[in-house]
Amino acid sequence: MNHDEPWVVSDPSYDADQLNPKLKFAYWEGHRDFAYDLLHFVRPARLVELGSQYGCSLFTFCQAVRDFKLNTEINAVDMWSGDIGAEITGEEVYALVQKTAATYYPEVKLHLFQMRFDQALPDFANESIDILHIDGGHTFEDVERDFTTWLPKLKENGIVLFHDVYSPIDQGSCDHWEKTKREYDCYFDFTHSCGLGVLFPKGRYWYDKLEAAGFFKYYKDLYFYRSKYKYTQARFDELKGLYEERYQAIEQQSKMIDERDARIAADEKLVAEKDAAIASQAKMIDERD
Ligand SMILES: C[S@@+](CC[C@H](N)C(=O)[O-])C[C@H]1O[C@@H](n2cnc3c(N)ncnc32)[C@H](O)[C@@H]1O
Repeated sequence: MNHDEPWVVSDPSYDADQLNPKLKFAYWEGHRDFAYDLLHFVRPARLVELGSQYGCSLFTFCQAVRDFKLNTEINAVDMWSGDIGAEITGEEVYALVQKTAATYYPEVKLHLFQMRFDQALPDFANESIDILHIDGGHTFEDVERDFTTWLPKLKENGIVLFHDVYSPIDQGSCDHWEKTKREYDCYFDFTHSCGLGVLFPKGRYWYDKLEAAGFFKYYKDLYFYRSKYKYTQARFDELKGLYEERYQAIEQQSKMIDERDARIAADEKLVAEKDAAIASQAKMIDERD
């Protein structure tokens, strides 16, 4: 392997958001720009993801493969059944993932494995995966099992990404990261968006290449600040949309109130005219009598 590419900071747009705008607010969202640029840098031949759900991370990988015309094979394993843990997922989520893949990423070599992680193991030879992303169950035991059973499948110098390593709700995956990063000692991590651990358990080739490209000195923090900015911007746009909807509803209602007031005023005028006519008739009757 000989790699002397620079680290390039891109400004991607994620097409999958058009079919599922919720992806912009997924827990993984803050790692999209980093993962996109990482794929550009590493140009992996094979990536495996354990846990895809709606596909925030999955479609980030697909977007990078499509935009940079990478020859990467992407494999996503997930039950998509709602049976595991309390995850909100099921056939309708799987259908949306399939539709997103077919709509935006037909040219990407993407394989969806709707099964348990351990059931997909025989489909992958030992030392055949360049990047492994672990984001399934979040207890210590879940992450430990997924990591240890899939580690033999990782190539020499392969990279493992762990989500939820600084999660306010999943202590198990955080504890696992604390233990694992010390054990392997070649890693870095992000603390935002529930945290992303990046581990180099079978050789430091890519860590050294990142260092040589100035990643740690010049670029790493940028992904943290950019993620904060993008999230705030997306929330702002969402709230602005809600405000505009509410403003229009209030306008509509005040128009209806004005119309109703005008009708009441017209009715009052009619009643007054009728009262006057009755009074005039009563006067005429009095005069006649
Ligand atoms: C946190 S979600 C994945 C989130 C996703 N990476 C993203 O970017 O939004 C975890 C997913 O893993 C799946 N899952 C958890 N444990 C699993 C297992 N042992 N086998 C298959 N799927 C599993 C769940 O069904 C769920 O969809």
